[in-house]
Amino acid sequence: MDNRLADVDLSLQVHRPSIARQDAFTQAVSMRPELVGAYAGKRYLLRTYGCQMNEHDTEIMSGLLEQMGYATTQDEREADIILFNTCAVRENAENKVFGEIGRMRPLKQLNPELLIGLCGCMPQEKAVQQKVQKTYPWIDLVFGTHNLHRLPELVEQARAAQETVLEVWDQARVMVDELPKARKDGLRAWVNIQYGCNKFCTYCIVPYTRGRERSRTLASVVEEVRLLGQQGFREITLLGQNVNDYGLDREDADFADLLRAVGEVDGVERVRFTTSNPWNFTDRLIAAIAETETVCEHIHLPVQSGSNTILRSMNRGYTREYYLKLVERIRAAVPGVALTTDVIVGFPGETDAHFADTLELVRYVRYDGAYTFIYSEREGTPAARLADAVPPDVKKSRLSRLMDVQNAISREYNEGLVGTTVDVLVEGESRTNPDRLMGRTRTNKIVLFEADRALVGQTVPVHLNSAQTWTLYGALAAQRGES
Ligand code: SAH
Ligand code: SF4
Ligand code: F3S
Repeated sequence: MDNRLADVDLSLQVHRPSIARQDAFTQAVSMRPELVGAYAGKRYLLRTYGCQMNEHDTEIMSGLLEQMGYATTQDEREADIILFNTCAVRENAENKVFGEIGRMRPLKQLNPELLIGLCGCMPQEKAVQQKVQKTYPWIDLVFGTHNLHRLPELVEQARAAQETVLEVWDQARVMVDELPKARKDGLRAWVNIQYGCNKFCTYCIVPYTRGRERSRTLASVVEEVRLLGQQGFREITLLGQNVNDYGLDREDADFADLLRAVGEVDGVERVRFTTSNPWNFTDRLIAAIAETETVCEHIHLPVQSGSNTILRSMNRGYTREYYLKLVERIRAAVPGVALTTDVIVGFPGETDAHFADTLELVRYVRYDGAYTFIYSEREGTPAARLADAVPPDVKKSRLSRLMDVQNAISREYNEGLVGTTVDVLVEGESRTNPDRLMGRTRTNKIVLFEADRALVGQTVPVHLNSAQTWTLYGALAAQRGES
């Protein structure tokens, strides 16, 4: 049994593997034939936390489990394996996961064969591995982000073992593109284009949990998208922590080339991407976004702070002035573009004046939406060594002031759309009201309207009648007179 405690190397150096090395790195991994279907009749439950990359990893793990014969369930009492695919970006979320896992323990008495596993970004932290061994030794299975393709073998080991099977790799050894994926949706698909992050923003744990940037080849991404187009998927979201660095480690195609290539794939109506970093947002890329018809007019452009002092201390690699100029360049080239952002409040050393700069920037840019976060100290990151922590009550009050400012702007944008007709890709029924359909505009705004379910999967014109901060309401444009 492989039960070693891997070192999480927090001082990994940035390396740029050569193209030859990258090709050796990319491997197809297939399941041992005797495992295919071996678990027929058993059920799995996968809980997912964190970003879209994790959601997509869940689809890959679901694909592997389903190939082994497992069927999905939402009922924890019925499950034979429960996996927590976790996020390490903020401490709060980590504590919640441990709370949830603790709650699962009694289920083992109901079903002695039940396997409980922890995977995703948290196990990449050594402190988490130690906590499992010390406090949660009854967890059966622990693995990380670099070896999720090993899931079938690890399940086998865990079933035979008396103690926790812990296998965490400190860096990627293979880049596995061709694993089965059980995609949740038949309309919209995530496609990984790049793994890892080289940016080392001082607050962020992702470079340590996901390793160095590795780009897939343009050919393999385009092939995956082509197959998705054939299967009826209409919207593709290209995923990476830093998509505009795509290809820097390969030097045969960059993100602009990739967008243009994906943009031409038959059947794909909308192309999105996340996340792009302001740091390397070239004119070449802006032109590709503007000129590729299927690429949607929505860019998520995390700013994090409006203060140059804080941006420097965060190692973001740009200034406020550069960022504002970038917003101008994007808006000049892509008319009607929606911009969204991420902001952290309460970074060490953030004074009232620094925070005022952030508020001012948010008011000036007028984002369509923002994800706002309270700074969370992550062990092993450079920011954890900084002095001048901001007191919790100050952090909370800054967060709520920022949210008030942003919510008012989001609402104004939505109210400004009332009376217009927008193209909506219909995703399904509204979660709260099955009589309504839910879809999105190209700018990623959520639209609810009453119409026949047969429209799911189609792009239809919707006339907007009213607006809230997060949602627009309307009627099929053809029915405008009746609404
Ligand atoms: N690669 C993406 C971000 C991934 S993490 C990018 O750079 O844009 C998503 C968001 O979580 C970040 O943009 C940041 O706003 C937030 N975040 C990351 N680390 C954090 C921390 N230690 N505390 C609070 N928020 C954090
Ligand atoms: Fe984290 Fe910065 Fe990388 Fe985004 S770019 S994942 S914030 S280190
Ligand atoms: Fe969280 Fe890992 Fe994504 S730390 S934000 S799940 S890459």
